[in-house]
Amino acid sequence: MTTQPKPGLADVGYPDTQRGTKPPAGSAGSQPHGARPASDEALAAPAGCAFERLPTYIQLKQQLAELAKLGIANPYFRSHDGVSSNIVTIDGREYDNYSGYNYLGLAGHAEVSAAAHAAIDRYGTSVSASRFASGEIPLHGELERELAAMLGTDDCLAFVSGYGTNITTIGHLFDGRDLIIHDELIHNSARLGGVLSGGRRFVFPHNDFEVLDKLLTEHRPRCRRALIIVEGAYSMDGDVPDLPRIVALKRRHDALLMVDEAHSIGVLGKHGRGIGEHFGLSPTDVDIWMGTLSKTFASSGGYIAGSTALVETLRYTAPGFVYSVGLSPADTAAALAAVRLMQREPERVTRLRSRIALFLTLAREAGLDTGASESAVVPVILGDSILSLALADALFARGINVHPILHPAVPEASARLRFFITETHTDAQIRSTVAHIVEALASLGPSCESVLFPSGAAAR
Ligand SMILES: Cc1ncc(COP(=O)(O)O)c(C=O)c1O
Repeated sequence: MTTQPKPGLADVGYPDTQRGTKPPAGSAGSQPHGARPASDEALAAPAGCAFERLPTYIQLKQQLAELAKLGIANPYFRSHDGVSSNIVTIDGREYDNYSGYNYLGLAGHAEVSAAAHAAIDRYGTSVSASRFASGEIPLHGELERELAAMLGTDDCLAFVSGYGTNITTIGHLFDGRDLIIHDELIHNSARLGGVLSGGRRFVFPHNDFEVLDKLLTEHRPRCRRALIIVEGAYSMDGDVPDLPRIVALKRRHDALLMVDEAHSIGVLGKHGRGIGEHFGLSPTDVDIWMGTLSKTFASSGGYIAGSTALVETLRYTAPGFVYSVGLSPADTAAALAAVRLMQREPERVTRLRSRIALFLTLAREAGLDTGASESAVVPVILGDSILSLALADALFARGINVHPILHPAVPEASARLRFFITETHTDAQIRSTVAHIVEALASLGPSCESVLFPSGAAAR
């Protein structure tokens, strides 16, 4: 039911003791390595090995039963028909869709689909080996050169999964002698990569660079290398970190900087080149540029871009690359076509940004809490998991598909709906959606007034 564990408050500015996997709802989220939450102990007593006795499974069944009791349809694993665009078809009905990160409308674009078809015709559906062994096809190099040229880096390496890219890159390049410091809202894959590395891990409160500075001052001198990890646009909140300030810090403390651009590539910067272009930074200001191929680039997979030494090291030694099959022909060709299309048609990025601005303006005018979002990820923060589920359910009944994000994916106080805005949304669609959110909230009862107008009636 959840995607991403967050640290409890006690973790912030302290060693991150989470194992990186999802804590069950209600657990503190700050158990020491290997320790089990108390509720697990009780549930586990005469367990045996059967998966039916797995505490995680029991908890899941309880949560799903609670959902059914509330009369709310299970919003997970809803199967859709057709392309996930501004409209999606579910069970034969068309919905205004805010649950897909097809930011520039390239998944389903005729040119991207044609490139994938042509690659299948030529190479089949799999490269049938690790690229390191004999799975290399020319398309792999073409995609990597195109990405490196766009980002201005020496080189680039494409992996079969964005999630796996973070795990294997961080897990492989760092070890127990190193310091890893990341934002508390960093994606689970980067957190787990840090766990795998065995490095000394610390989290800093979201965008709190004073704490980051303090942590570096205190711990950097005792570690061989230090890595700071942030996102270009945060996946739950859509806000953008002050990257120039982080670059200054990493320089002062002789640290490496990694930026996960899953939600900023194709969204930020005049040409969609991401947070580096947004702030006018040099490509070498960041040591490890990470991105996914699954969002703007209409495919599946991830990439690391940076210096020749970094990319060559990963190409020959990263376990998640060397011991894994090469990116499929169709995925490679689709991503390559999407990268080229984005550069040829920068107006797509401009359009996306005007849609984002419209949604944010209307939502804020209506009194909705969209946090500090300035990207295509727009939360509507409700501060209550049940209310988030109920609102998503009510909107679904009104023909709008948007996903609730609940505790413990986010703290209960910031449970929300998360809207992904895309270039394909129309102004009319956005206007009608914001109006529906307000109406649906009002129809859910008086308790929702405080969500809409937290500062009282005057706000009206
Ligand atoms: C910030 C961030 N990094 C990494 C990933 C993993 O990427 P993928 O889904 O392409 O495996 C995601 C997924 O949504 C993400 O949001």
